[in-house]
Amino acid sequence: MSKHSDSVHPVSGDQKLPRHVAIIMDGNGRWAKKRMMPRVAGHRAGVEVVRRLVELCRSKGIEVLTLFAFSSENWRRPEQEVSLLMELFVSALKREASKLHKNGVRLKVIGDCTALNSKLQHQIEDAERLTAGNNKLTLVIAANYGGRWDITEAARQLARQVEAGGLKADQIDEARLAGCLSLADCPEPDLFIRTGGEQRISNFLLWQLAYTELYITDTLWPDFNESAFDSALSSFANRQRRFGRTGEQVAQSDTTQAEKGA
Ligand code: FPP
Repeated sequence: MSKHSDSVHPVSGDQKLPRHVAIIMDGNGRWAKKRMMPRVAGHRAGVEVVRRLVELCRSKGIEVLTLFAFSSENWRRPEQEVSLLMELFVSALKREASKLHKNGVRLKVIGDCTALNSKLQHQIEDAERLTAGNNKLTLVIAANYGGRWDITEAARQLARQVEAGGLKADQIDEARLAGCLSLADCPEPDLFIRTGGEQRISNFLLWQLAYTELYITDTLWPDFNESAFDSALSSFANRQRRFGRTGEQVAQSDTTQAEKGA
């Protein structure tokens, strides 16, 4: 069930951490171009950043990391780039699945997987099955994902329930719809990061980002290192999340919570 994640945040030092970080990893192509390299070299460098970031999130106690790896619109890219990206996913999954498992990471893939090639679909199923019981970090990879697709699928599920007579149209509310979305079993993202400087959500988690803190950096994804991540986390720690309340109400409830914790 989807919920605002203003409950218990993990803490690093004195700093409040997000429970769920969602990232658009942009800028691989520009990174490669600057180095006179093919675009795929940027994607390869991007995979290394993903590996390091997963480890960082796990060690900091962040619960969920969601990465936009391939959007439903990315099929429009040159055929060669699309197939190289698919190969990259296959080889990364093959190489990393057992390592993720050893480190207690649960892998979850969201998006319309039926459009992915069958080798990749099997690899995804195997890795999800292998890591299903892990609880140190949930790594969500959005592949052939679109926020509008996600909401449409949820609407379709609810419509089927109404058709079958198990649900009345009037019983449909936000919680019920959220419960049918791809990330229904995760807290909503607290922090959204986009690298590469574009000021867009690009059909990522449209429903789930409603109250998420947005952080956009010009850093290109292959250059997104620990210090860049720390800057995003410290920006998050300094935000006041109000969820529609006034600043005074939030300050009062923070004080009450701190007193309870003392
Ligand atoms: C956007 O950069 C990046 C992508 C469309 C692909 C992202 C994929 C990875 C980093 C690999 C992830 C791998 C796993 C296993 C999760 P861009 O190509 O649009 O860059 P540009 O805006 O500079 O052209």
